[in-house]
Amino acid sequence: MTKLWGGRFTKTAEEWVDAFGASIGFDQALVNEDIEGSLAHVTMLGKCGILSQEEVEQIKAGLSTLREKAEKGELEFSVQQEDIHLNLEKMLIDEIGPVGGKLHTGRSRNDQVATDMHLYLRNQLKEITTALKKLQKALYDQAAVHVETLIPGYTHLQRAQPVSFAHHLLAYFWMLERDLGRFEDSMKRVNLSPLGAGALAGTTFPIDRMYTAELLGFDGIYENSLDAVSDRDFIVEFLSNASMLMMHLSRLCEELILWSSQEFQFVEIDDAFATGSSIMPQKKNPDMAELIRGKTGRVYGNLFSLLTTLKGLPLAYNKDMQEDKEGMFDTVETVKGSLHIFAGMIETLTVHADTMEKAVHQDFSNATELADYLATKGMPFREAHEVVGKLVLVAIQKGVFLLDLPFSDYEEASSLFDKDIYEVLQPKTVVARRNSAGGTGFEQVKAALEKAKQCLAD
Ligand code: ARG
Repeated sequence: MTKLWGGRFTKTAEEWVDAFGASIGFDQALVNEDIEGSLAHVTMLGKCGILSQEEVEQIKAGLSTLREKAEKGELEFSVQQEDIHLNLEKMLIDEIGPVGGKLHTGRSRNDQVATDMHLYLRNQLKEITTALKKLQKALYDQAAVHVETLIPGYTHLQRAQPVSFAHHLLAYFWMLERDLGRFEDSMKRVNLSPLGAGALAGTTFPIDRMYTAELLGFDGIYENSLDAVSDRDFIVEFLSNASMLMMHLSRLCEELILWSSQEFQFVEIDDAFATGSSIMPQKKNPDMAELIRGKTGRVYGNLFSLLTTLKGLPLAYNKDMQEDKEGMFDTVETVKGSLHIFAGMIETLTVHADTMEKAVHQDFSNATELADYLATKGMPFREAHEVVGKLVLVAIQKGVFLLDLPFSDYEEASSLFDKDIYEVLQPKTVVARRNSAGGTGFEQVKAALEKAKQCLAD
């Protein structure tokens, strides 16, 4: 098959070489963006008097036909035409005749492909941020009903201090809020038009870049034509933001997996998001949480792959850059899929408040409270730490917890203890009293819920 760029060639490449160089297998995902970009470009060519109105109308009609066919899945792409841009241009010429060949006036595939990617990412970012907000809402809803549910808080995965379960869930809400902020901020760099940069140096035609930018809903244009066609920062930035988001999801996955184990039994993942075993009839595996944790690795991989691809590239376009697409598409699908699954998993999560409550009564996570108690009464905190440490040891030796020790043990440890310690040591009191800004105290958690609600409304 003849190539649209075949003029200076005396020999055609063999099919297997074409197949290796082609990107149509994956960049057909850009079909709508490519047509949208072409429509804007040709409209501009007409407005600037570069093509006649009649030519413009013919080309627009041809592009519309292609769009309809694309919607119906009727376009047949070919590897010989290498990529989405050449495939569509060839189809246009087949559809409307040689006038179709005028579409590419004052344009290069280099500014064309960059434009497509900007449009694509802009569209996808909207979907991703919507899905992110849905997950935030799910976390918020669970948090709202679990302000008074207590769960052991851990450091080093050792029981540390009890916290409100809502406080724990809201920690993830705020992580996602930062992720959202990063995606939204990146729009400034995504929503810029490279169109009109030409192959690398601009064009001799009297084009109007601001006009195409406006038609395509971009906020502005790239200042420098070389930068416009070489820049893939916006994709690296997306992959980096996606990696951070996946890291957050993965950490919550890890907790859900632990919490739903026999050892913890703090939560139960809904049947809809779990699977059984082909051999062990009793099993209920938290597959979706594990899979999202696993998929985090491929998103990191996509980030590193693109950074590595770009690191040695001289200006301007290099074919290496064709490698920017699969990782981006894959990340978009992975992130969207993970967010949807996650929202469902959180919405339907069963929380075993009773098991959590039991857990916070069967540990030493109220020990800090006791040290604070002594410190409040004037004992230097370091000394108080030592006194309480010894009491913990006494309790361990007796096989009980702090609340079970008789008052005589306390009296012996320090004359500063009063009987009110039995109230102070109650996990609920322990949590309620951590009322410093951003702490787990119930008042703080309620205030945080209000702030979170505000974020959801914005
Ligand atoms: N398929 C190419 C890509 O994805 C489009 C740009 C090709 N430009 C070129 N001069 N070969 O990067």
